[in-house]
Amino acid sequence: MSTEKMKKELESAFRSAMRQYAASVNIITCRARGTWYGMTATAITSLCADPPSLLLCINRGNNFYAAISEASEFCVNLLGTQHQEVSAAFSRTVENPLDKFSSGRWNCELDGIPYLVDSPVNIFCKVASTFSFGTHDIVVGTCERILGSEDAGRSSPLLYTNGQYTSVSAVN
Ligand SMILES: Cc1cc2nc3c(=O)[nH]c(=O)nc-3n(C[C@H](O)[C@H](O)[C@H](O)COP(=O)(O)O)c2cc1C
Repeated sequence: MSTEKMKKELESAFRSAMRQYAASVNIITCRARGTWYGMTATAITSLCADPPSLLLCINRGNNFYAAISEASEFCVNLLGTQHQEVSAAFSRTVENPLDKFSSGRWNCELDGIPYLVDSPVNIFCKVASTFSFGTHDIVVGTCERILGSEDAGRSSPLLYTNGQYTSVSAVN
């Protein structure tokens, strides 16, 4: 088998393997060039608590990448099962980035970073570091402020696995 074919087969097996992962769905938002940007993302993880920090993996082909590259701050908005349509809206590339925000209830404070009002948790971060790897950039953010919706305890997290939205259920 040619090296190119082996590479393609491994890539395809990798994609299939990663589809089995179940991940929480979020919308990352930022303000850049005087407007709002947002993108649906599952490649987000807690990094450490000292300092409170997390990391994001962003495809450099996405419009959001150009925006976050210029922004010094961003917000991670966790989604609940009621946000499936919002997630779908923010996973589409559109001509005017502001159009995405007609889906969901958005607000901003003095810093101008949009946050989803009824999100279970909004985590506001400052960009601390970025690294490039393959097609993506890894962005490390240090947490500056956290907002929690009053409904947080009642909201069930929106998950994505096997190319579909789903929700958690108890195993016993
Ligand atoms: C459930 C789900 C999770 C996603 N996670 C990521 C992610 O972690 N990183 C990423 O770069 N793109 C991710 N995407 C793809 C972006 O949301 C998609 O490319 C979007 O169109 C980007 O918008 P933009 O071109 O306006 O930046 C995800 C899409 C979906 C549906």
